[in-house]
Amino acid sequence: MDTQIIAPPRRAQIGVGGFRITARAKQLVMEVLDSNRITAGPKMARFENEIAALHGCEYGVMCNSGTSALQIALAALKEIYSWQGDDEVLVPAVTFVATSNVVLYNNLKPVFVDVEPRHYCIDPTKIEERITPRTRAIMPVHLAGQPCDMEPILRVAERYNLRIVEDSAETMFVSDKGRPVGSFGDVGCFSTYAAHMITTGVGGLCTTNDSELIVMLKSLMNHGRDSIYIRIDDDKNARGEDLFQIANSRFSFVLLGHSFRATEMEAALGLAQLEEREELCARRQQVVARLHKGLGDLEEHLQLPRPRPGSDHSYMFYPLTIMNAHVNRDDLVRYLEDHAIETRYLLPLINQPIYRQLFGNLDEQFPVAARLNRDSFYIGCHPDINDEDVDYVIERFHHFFRSYI
Ligand SMILES: Cc1ncc(COP(=O)(O)O)c(C=O)c1O
Repeated sequence: MDTQIIAPPRRAQIGVGGFRITARAKQLVMEVLDSNRITAGPKMARFENEIAALHGCEYGVMCNSGTSALQIALAALKEIYSWQGDDEVLVPAVTFVATSNVVLYNNLKPVFVDVEPRHYCIDPTKIEERITPRTRAIMPVHLAGQPCDMEPILRVAERYNLRIVEDSAETMFVSDKGRPVGSFGDVGCFSTYAAHMITTGVGGLCTTNDSELIVMLKSLMNHGRDSIYIRIDDDKNARGEDLFQIANSRFSFVLLGHSFRATEMEAALGLAQLEEREELCARRQQVVARLHKGLGDLEEHLQLPRPRPGSDHSYMFYPLTIMNAHVNRDDLVRYLEDHAIETRYLLPLINQPIYRQLFGNLDEQFPVAARLNRDSFYIGCHPDINDEDVDYVIERFHHFFRSYI
């Protein structure tokens, strides 16, 4: 007799992100393939315009990632405002590592600012103390779908003449006090990587209302090309001397740029999701409402993500912070993972091995970040999680707390 104990089949994991290829997405991608135009074309132009308009901006440009969008946003501002190497950019002490990496890649210095314990965004009351004569910009990160408290940030920026690059990689289609994310700063940067509000596989966008900046952003993401010829049909309607001027400049590079181009297929995926954006966002809100209701009685142990008054929340994910000193976050994470509920820590930055190496131990300077790095994490709340999965998650949390406390 076979005495081997067979483990019960593991439940399908409830991930932090989900994605469904719809018939419409396939149709739009097939249109691209059939058109034989796979580099930036009409679909990308539409996607850029629609994302810009939805975020209160006149111009948009798509590139191959949110990181690239941030990288060229800072590079453009550095060029326009003649920033010098080691000039300083204020970055929240809790964010995805890319926000701060792009500062370093632009030969600028990230200066960290602690975050709000309740909403996890840069703490506006702590910005001024980090400003020096070399501070040039602030990068507010709209974390997890929660817009930053922008009014006081804008006031400080104005007082000290600082530029603003919004890192809105995690937040789309929402507003703070009625004004959409992506429209507050000189540039707004979005990501359409997997598990974001909409996904194109890889992808990112910059939005702006500045006609000079958009020209530079388009150039920087395309090797620093002369803006006379950025996309392959920019010569389509030119004739005679105009056409010769373009021919003469096709290989003219006026800035030190990057190869950050996205393809028309990614734009097609983005357009398909924009078409169903309202349903996707509504489903996210339903999942969140169900989680709030089911976990509400645990709120003394677990901080749930409540939106800041006056602001929306797009809930790219569902952040949680342990509020009970007797509960160890890692025990809870271990339990959830063992029960097929995927988790991620809440965007730890200052304790990353590479950041410790570069900046030393910053925990004492940034007590809120240090606490969140110890006690916070997130789970998924995306539109592909069904009610049964949500109820299972709720039940697991209760089971953990019942047996732990
Ligand atoms: C806050 C934040 N900034 C930037 C990025 C980078 O975006 P991407 O992965 O598209 O490069 C991310 C991605 O997860 C993010 O969460």
